[in-house]
Amino acid sequence: MILDIIQYPDPRLTQRAVELTELTDEIRTLVSDMAETMYAARGGGLAAPQVGRAVRLIMVDASGPDERNDLRVFINPRLTVLDPTPVEDEEGCLSVPFNYRAPVSRVTGVAVDALDMDWNPVHVEAEGLLAVCLQHELDHLEGTVFLDHVSRLKRMLFDTRIKKWLRRNSP
Ligand code: NI
Repeated sequence: MILDIIQYPDPRLTQRAVELTELTDEIRTLVSDMAETMYAARGGGLAAPQVGRAVRLIMVDASGPDERNDLRVFINPRLTVLDPTPVEDEEGCLSVPFNYRAPVSRVTGVAVDALDMDWNPVHVEAEGLLAVCLQHELDHLEGTVFLDHVSRLKRMLFDTRIKKWLRRNSP
């Protein structure tokens, strides 16, 4: 089932997500629905808070963009910085309207320790696009969106645009 993706500036995007304590059928369904939702929206990553579930569950697929076939699911993920060298690239987010994209500074190398879809421990070390995706999705679990990392001027211009849009489209 394709789920609604919560859009900025919805306050649910600013909440810290809680750990999952066990694998239930409900969580299995959530994983499958989130994957369907992410692929339907042509996104490279999705975090549970973006579909209104404040739990520590993220997924990324850094393959594509034409064909995505590398789904990775992380439950209760913990991030370690392996290479702190800053790297800047444009990011967007399925929860940020207008397909808005802006440069964000991230670290080059990270490791993620988590549980997979079968509740087995996984350890992934990543650089490049996958590392950026992981940092972006982990942020969602802390209630952070990439807009929180862009320059104050860019953020102000974007918020002004959003406010105008919301005013025009409110009943
Ligand atoms: Ni995002």
